[in-house]
Amino acid sequence: MAHMGRVLILGGTAWLGRLLAEKLIDDGDDVTCLARGTAGPPPAGTTFVRADRDNPDAYAAVRDTAWDEVVELSWDPDHVAGALGALADRAAHWTLVSSVSVYASDAEPDAGETAALHEATDPADYASAKVTAEHASGAALGGRLLVVRAGLISGPGDGSDRFGYWVSRLALAGHGDVLAPVVADRFVQAIDVRDLAGWMIRAGRSGVTGVVNAVGESTPFGTLLTSAREVGGHTGALVEASPEWLAEQGVAYWAGPRSLPLWLPEDLSGFSRRSNAAFRAAGGTLRSLRHTLVDTLDDETARGLERGRRSGLDRREELELLAKL
Ligand SMILES: NC(=O)c1ccc[n+]([C@@H]2O[C@H](COP(=O)([O-])OP(=O)(O)OC[C@H]3O[C@@H](n4cnc5c(N)ncnc54)[C@H](OP(=O)(O)O)[C@@H]3O)[C@@H](O)[C@H]2O)c1
Repeated sequence: MAHMGRVLILGGTAWLGRLLAEKLIDDGDDVTCLARGTAGPPPAGTTFVRADRDNPDAYAAVRDTAWDEVVELSWDPDHVAGALGALADRAAHWTLVSSVSVYASDAEPDAGETAALHEATDPADYASAKVTAEHASGAALGGRLLVVRAGLISGPGDGSDRFGYWVSRLALAGHGDVLAPVVADRFVQAIDVRDLAGWMIRAGRSGVTGVVNAVGESTPFGTLLTSAREVGGHTGALVEASPEWLAEQGVAYWAGPRSLPLWLPEDLSGFSRRSNAAFRAAGGTLRSLRHTLVDTLDDETARGLERGRRSGLDRREELELLAKL
């Protein structure tokens, strides 16, 4: 496969950006990462430009290079605008990592890329800021831009601790009970970080432009739990609690401490049910849910099944809740 050539990653020290850098280096590309280095060390083999993008001169060291590919990971409108101002005319192709959070509605199952977006009114709000980033990037780059609207990202290395909660908790509980929400009619749609990074690199190489939802297969929540039980070797019971009871106990949904991750109490018929037809048509591939769960459990085990998590219940709070239920 042809090399991408000279690639600039605006980021690269965290999760997706790091994996992109590592894969590109493995393929023999010439990769520069620009970041502060606070999220992690520079990926091995890359040229690292340590810079704070709050500083207007952040791009001075990379402005004089002709880039075959620039990958923008930020959602901060000032960072995005600064990079475009300094580098848009230096890039043959530009990939902006956006998010399905830009969509105004979660009502329609199978909605595609033409669905209406949020207003770009609040720079402090993630969804609104990503819309601003898309608009600014489109205006500066026109037909050289690929907008990747990523859905929930899964797989090894996830610092948000969301997707890994279920398989790791079921493995930790073993023969014991696990607290679950009522999941009828709820869906999960996760893309493995390795499928996302692999496709972004292929798309950059072949010059894919436009807007693409990079989302996994929409999967009933119950299927995720069943697969996670199999992979985690759980033989205890899944004890279901109603949304009302969970709310009374101060259990949050979707993410964060004292939460049941990935679940929403509200029934939004289009949530986690976006179309990935454009992703497939542009060469995107998706590994099986089981494959992602197996590798996620390995990663969770290495990081410690009883570690403090950014998302989920700790086992002690879960057992207290189960006793109360
Ligand atoms: N996780 C999900 O499920 C999900 C879903 C949809 C979309 N996304 C999108 O997917 C992407 C994930 O990317 P990621 O995991 O590589 O990174 P990330 O966690 O979004 O971090 C962004 C990068 O920006 C750098 N950065 C932050 N502030 C900076 C500053 N002031 N100056 C210079 N660099 C700065 C960070 O490095 P330093 O701290 O080292 O500077 C880091 O490398 C993001 O675009 C995210 O919005 C994620």
